[in-house]
Amino acid sequence: MPAQEKFYITTPIYYVNDRPHVGHAYTTIIADVLARTARMAKKEVVFLAGTDENSQKTVDAALKAKEEVKNYTDRLAAIWKSAWETIGITNTDFIRTTEERHVKTVAEVWRRILEKGDIYKGTYKGLYCVGCEEFKKESDLIDGLCSEHKTKPEYIEEENYFFKLSKYRKDLLQLYESNPSFIIPAGRFNEVKKFVSDGLEDISISREGKNWGIPVPGDPNHVIYVWFDALINYISAIGIDEWEKHPADIHVIGKNIIRFHAVIWPAMLWSLGLPLPKGIIANGFFTVGGVKISKSLGNAIDPLLLGEKYGFDALRYFLLREIPFGEDGDFSYEKFDERYTSDLANGLGNLSARTFTLAEKYWFFVDGGDIDAEVQVKIDSLKKEVIYAVEQFKFHDALTLIWELIAFGNAYLQEKKPWAPDAIDVSRTVFSMVVLLDNVAAIIAPFLPDASRKIAESIVWDASGTLRVKKPKILFPRRDMR
Ligand code: MSP
Repeated sequence: MPAQEKFYITTPIYYVNDRPHVGHAYTTIIADVLARTARMAKKEVVFLAGTDENSQKTVDAALKAKEEVKNYTDRLAAIWKSAWETIGITNTDFIRTTEERHVKTVAEVWRRILEKGDIYKGTYKGLYCVGCEEFKKESDLIDGLCSEHKTKPEYIEEENYFFKLSKYRKDLLQLYESNPSFIIPAGRFNEVKKFVSDGLEDISISREGKNWGIPVPGDPNHVIYVWFDALINYISAIGIDEWEKHPADIHVIGKNIIRFHAVIWPAMLWSLGLPLPKGIIANGFFTVGGVKISKSLGNAIDPLLLGEKYGFDALRYFLLREIPFGEDGDFSYEKFDERYTSDLANGLGNLSARTFTLAEKYWFFVDGGDIDAEVQVKIDSLKKEVIYAVEQFKFHDALTLIWELIAFGNAYLQEKKPWAPDAIDVSRTVFSMVVLLDNVAAIIAPFLPDASRKIAESIVWDASGTLRVKKPKILFPRRDMR
């Protein structure tokens, strides 16, 4: 048997200064859809998620919570890990940047880059935003404030180690030129190209006199800059040798962290003599009621509470369906209710309930073999389009197409009225809808895994090719949502 093709996919590692909100869940769910899709294509999937813990934000949050930092990070990391389990994320590994495997790899990476001559000591004079964990230029600010956090960055003047990022400017431009799908969506890719062609400076990669973080090898008075450490998680989870053989296929990230992944990360990998990830995809941002989701505003929506109320399939469906991949959009309970009722309860739920009720009633007719050609054609063409949409990361289009098939099914039943006393072709009508649902179950599997499984388990072809059906429990109960 030929070796299984590998597929390595990652999410950002999230800061532990906060609990997961719908925005974090969104990025993670996108990665999960791709991981599940790759498994369906029989690939051997390594799917990495994790937490970014060596940040100043962690210390500040622990202080605020009046907890010892280590205890605090352990507690928060456990919250993140179990959140993904509850949501049904199928990550195969979960990395914490305070783990030994990571700390060791980071030290090794530092040594190699130093040996290569790409690290030097200098003085950093400038601004730093702890919210972003990013060095800032005056030109990045709006009215002197960080555009994202609306806070005044601190001025720092300290001895730092620098990474020779500017050295890789030409290579980066060439990479972008020769690999037009390295970053998706294209609009964001153009921003990166412009940023790099406007000129690149070396970056500071250490902080002096901080007592939280990974110490600079041989100079424990400094800790490694959190982003320099964080990016390396993608390697430390699998090991340097494994990365050399099979680097990440896809890094799934949000639009706000593209520069780190598309500029600094490739340069670090070149310096290490290691291969680059094959691609980076960046989602847009959810706002809530038009406002940025933020801890301080207290408007963060808890994906676990939403999932408990509506089911995690509904959460996945809403997030992926609401905004086209790469664009920004808004979250609201009203829209969530609306989609739940119209698309899930009335759309898929209704088609499933009607079809299985009929199939149970007429099951002795429904012995396979004869599907309405019109239905078959519809299934085949939509399936192809869905696969194409997912390949293009157009999850929103994929779901729109699948729901076209579902709407077609509901309209078909309405037209044929197999329940009417004078109905003709009852067996064929019902059988066609069972086959349609069987196909819907297969194509929604990466998106709505629970509903997919429930439908698929209700349709059994026995050894003689006879179809047995068993009505599943209500997929999406109608309810007063809040
Ligand atoms: N720790 C860094 C990432 C290091 S990766 C080597 C970080 N962490 S974070 O906790 O701030 O999470 C950032 C990611 O969460 C974003 O890039 C994005 O994927 C996701 N989102 C956070 N808020 C979001 C929205 N409001 N909407 C959509 N995605 C959001 O940055």
